[in-house]
Amino acid sequence: MKVLVTGGAGYIGSHTVLSLLENNYDVIVYDNLVNSSIESIDRVEKLAGKKVEFIEGDICDKEKLSKVFEQFTIDAVIHFAALKAVGESAQIPLSYYQNNVYGTVCLLEVMQQHKVHNFIFSSSATVYGEENDVPYVETMKLGTPSSPYGASKVMVERVLGDLAQSNSNFRGVSLRYFNPIGAHESGQIGEDPKGIPNNLLPYVAQVAVGKREKLGIFGDDYPTKDGSCERDYLHVMDLAQGHVAALDWLNRHSEFSGVEAFNLGTGNGVSVFAIVKAFEKAIDKKIPFEVSPRRTGDLPAFWADANKANKALNWQAKRSVEQMMADTWRWQSTNPNGYLV
Ligand SMILES: NC(=O)c1ccc[n+]([C@@H]2O[C@H](COP(=O)([O-])OP(=O)(O)OC[C@H]3O[C@@H](n4cnc5c(N)ncnc54)[C@H](O)[C@@H]3O)[C@@H](O)[C@H]2O)c1
Repeated sequence: MKVLVTGGAGYIGSHTVLSLLENNYDVIVYDNLVNSSIESIDRVEKLAGKKVEFIEGDICDKEKLSKVFEQFTIDAVIHFAALKAVGESAQIPLSYYQNNVYGTVCLLEVMQQHKVHNFIFSSSATVYGEENDVPYVETMKLGTPSSPYGASKVMVERVLGDLAQSNSNFRGVSLRYFNPIGAHESGQIGEDPKGIPNNLLPYVAQVAVGKREKLGIFGDDYPTKDGSCERDYLHVMDLAQGHVAALDWLNRHSEFSGVEAFNLGTGNGVSVFAIVKAFEKAIDKKIPFEVSPRRTGDLPAFWADANKANKALNWQAKRSVEQMMADTWRWQSTNPNGYLV
């Protein structure tokens, strides 16, 4: 089975491509490298001992995308390509809607033209917005996220719903990720953000290798156990395997059409302070930090109800917080400059 992976050179994409190869899927990666390096694909190929077809291109370029669908017989698409920095999305919202919403519409149009109907979308826990209570369950209504980034994910989920209504061949899966962290256990691939990291763990790891002076913790006065925000952190390899499970689910359910959403998380909230402590333990070194005021739009705590994915996809996030820390450190300490060699 041949799978087109948009954004496959990025953080979650590269780990998923590895899992797909290990499960005997053929993979074509389509990525414009705006936030990634081709080196990630070279390393995935070495780890898997298999080849990946790489095409540099933008999802907004329908002509180029069409050529890919003409050249290869594609059975399914996994769509990671997006811009993902929450703060930046408030500064340049139009770029986020153009890339994440218009780009997805372009991809779906080209898929329709070429009669490819199996689609897995990288959605996010952010689609539950501010109005839903924790734990988040898939039966809840889509919420109102506080950022244009989050809004772009809600819009795409709506687009998928409308497309499924209009086309009974469409078979979509929205995977709502919680907070992926960690790296492949080899230390060969991991998260390599360009510029200042937006997410907690890459920042902590860069402080640990001396690239940044200290960590900023936004708010210690939330109504949580220790006052810092709580999130549902899951290992990126568990998340990668969630995509293989979703593809298997589509393959098992040949009668299915429509769109189905699944939460991919552990079901546990872990605080920012707890993550910092776990990382310090893993590297046996203190991480200097400073508490600064809350960031607008940050929710105090959220985590997944992961029962639907556990049962239907036969998938579970298995790796521990300790393993997430150890694997992050292996990646960061052996690649202090990421993929820049
Ligand atoms: N990392 C997270 O915490 C998280 C959480 C929830 C959802 N997601 C979603 O998962 C997906 C992957 O996230 P990630 O953390 O791997 O991000 P990433 O930035 O590492 O990967 C995204 C990839 O898409 C590519 N890309 C972006 N715009 C493109 C375009 N127009 N055409 C072609 N390629 C393009 C980038 O070059 C990059 O390789 C994104 O859709 C993101 O919104 C991520």
